Amino acid sequence: MMTITAKINKWNPDKAIISRAAEILRSGGLVAFPTETVYGLGADALNSEAVRKIYEAKGRPSDNPLILHVYNMAQAESLVFMNDIARKLAKIFWPGPLTFVLPAREIIPLRTRGGLETAAVRMPDNPVALALIEAANIPIAAPSANLSGRPSPTDSQSVYQDMNGRIDFILDGGNTEVGIESTVIDLSNPEKILMLRPGGMSREIIEEAVNMKLQVPDNTSKKRSPGTRYKHYSPSIPVKILRRDKDINIPANSGFMGLSNLENENFAERIIFDDIANYAHGLFSGFRKFEHENLACIFVEWPEENSGISEGLRDRILRAAGDFV
Ligand code: TXA
Ligand code: MG
Repeated sequence: MMTITAKINKWNPDKAIISRAAEILRSGGLVAFPTETVYGLGADALNSEAVRKIYEAKGRPSDNPLILHVYNMAQAESLVFMNDIARKLAKIFWPGPLTFVLPAREIIPLRTRGGLETAAVRMPDNPVALALIEAANIPIAAPSANLSGRPSPTDSQSVYQDMNGRIDFILDGGNTEVGIESTVIDLSNPEKILMLRPGGMSREIIEEAVNMKLQVPDNTSKKRSPGTRYKHYSPSIPVKILRRDKDINIPANSGFMGLSNLENENFAERIIFDDIANYAHGLFSGFRKFEHENLACIFVEWPEENSGISEGLRDRILRAAGDFV
């Protein structure tokens, strides 16, 4: 398969390019597109055969369900049973990096939702993504556009690196803003909202809007987001976490990423971010950069501060380092 990349202006998406991509989706093909979080690998969410191609292209386990991307509320209502709290949160936070898990309507093929009775929906905050979903006039199922287990792509070159020859089309709308994926919450019981995956939308801001604490699903619960069980986000070189006041041996030709300007003669490359949002924005592209430069090991500074996107960032760092259960 030939993978074609088309550059597109994020703020003024070219209609001809959008309709070409929409046509590929409508005929069951795969199109990668930018969202505000990471690039998505899209297919017609209602076409089970098209969705099968997503799993195949990514090498993704088939029990890991996909997020359905919508461009307006009516489309969301047609896919899942929205409740008052979901509508309220959608009004405040959509389009934006917040995904709702809700009871699925029959129309969603079982393959799209990994065999579950619930499905995940979100409205992405990116003009290219919204124009594409509207033009295709179907919900778009889209996981991150990386090979399963690898760092999520935050630019089209990273998509191309993983997906060349596996998908039909890449819409290149430049770098994504947030850098890590959306926050996933389970709203199927409005009295007990579950945080399934921390991400681009902070816990505090959601809790403030719903005036209640988000709960953690217990380990045995089927409600656990299936995707969080797998090792994830990892480049081909080892990722190690650097915690303050912990001695660690740094091999020669290592890379460093973090908020401090940490000196060590064995760091061949360093990426210093000036705040936590920039850290999240640059984490995955930093992994890929160091991987490309064939460094021996990547050291990531553990973000101590506890606000905004730090919960999501810490989650990605732990998983990339393989440091989780
Ligand atoms: O920012 C994002 O969310 C990106 C962009 C492309 O929108 N997408 C993304 O998709 O990260 P993916 O497939 O990499 O992650 C989807 C997460 C997985 O952890 C999956 O298990 C969970 O959502 N999920 C989807 N449907 C679910 C359901 N019905 N119940 C529980 N978890 C679900
Ligand atoms: Mg992913």
